[in-house]
Amino acid sequence: MVPGQQAALTTAVRLRPSRPEDLRFVTALERHPDNCELIGQWSDAEHLAAMAGSRGRSHWIVERDGEPAGYLIAYDCSGVGTGVYVKRLLVADKGRGTGRAALAQFLERAFASAQVSFVWLIVRGENVRAQALYASLGFERLELASEQAERFDRAAEPPMAEAFRMCLDRGRHLRA
Ligand SMILES: CC(C)(COP(=O)(O)OP(=O)(O)OC[C@H]1O[C@@H](n2cnc3c(N)ncnc32)[C@H](O)[C@@H]1OP(=O)(O)O)[C@@H](O)C(=O)NCCC(=O)NCCS
Repeated sequence: MVPGQQAALTTAVRLRPSRPEDLRFVTALERHPDNCELIGQWSDAEHLAAMAGSRGRSHWIVERDGEPAGYLIAYDCSGVGTGVYVKRLLVADKGRGTGRAALAQFLERAFASAQVSFVWLIVRGENVRAQALYASLGFERLELASEQAERFDRAAEPPMAEAFRMCLDRGRHLRA
């Protein structure tokens, strides 16, 4: 993407906290046949709890030109030394830069807290589109010794089969 397009997207795409009235949009997108194979599935209650900020979770609507265009869910695990975990990122209209702009904005927010030294996520091995996006924002594959992996699993969740962790630390983010 050329810099001018990137700048335009930075203003067109923004994150705002999800509200209970967004539940219908979020679950319709998540459960849509185009998406349900690509992404985990939550109950209404799980989404509402995350929207309420339960257990360090945050739930964001990705808006593009003022309209809901996707959502992002994160867990703040920095209190137990395991950074911020991006649980889910899903956009409706893919391949138009929305996901990149949304994640870039989320990273700015996350790293604005001095407590947060890294942001990580889990991606499926076959999800090359998501991997390309994460790598282009500076994320690298994260290999952990088993004891450390257990800490990450407890703080967030373990990777499913054929999936792996990717991580972006503050220094690399600032250099990107
Ligand atoms: C992954 C997802 C959030 C990315 O958002 P998006 O708006 O589609 O992605 P963008 O348009 O911002 O593109 C991001 C980059 O991926 C690259 N990309 C797009 N489609 C690709 C593909 N099929 N294969 C490889 N790379 C691809 C683009 O080249 C782009 O890089 P660039 O900006 O340098 O050109 C979105 O596609 C999505 O919701 N997918 C389904 C759910 C999902 O997989 N979520 C992630 C779970 S870990």
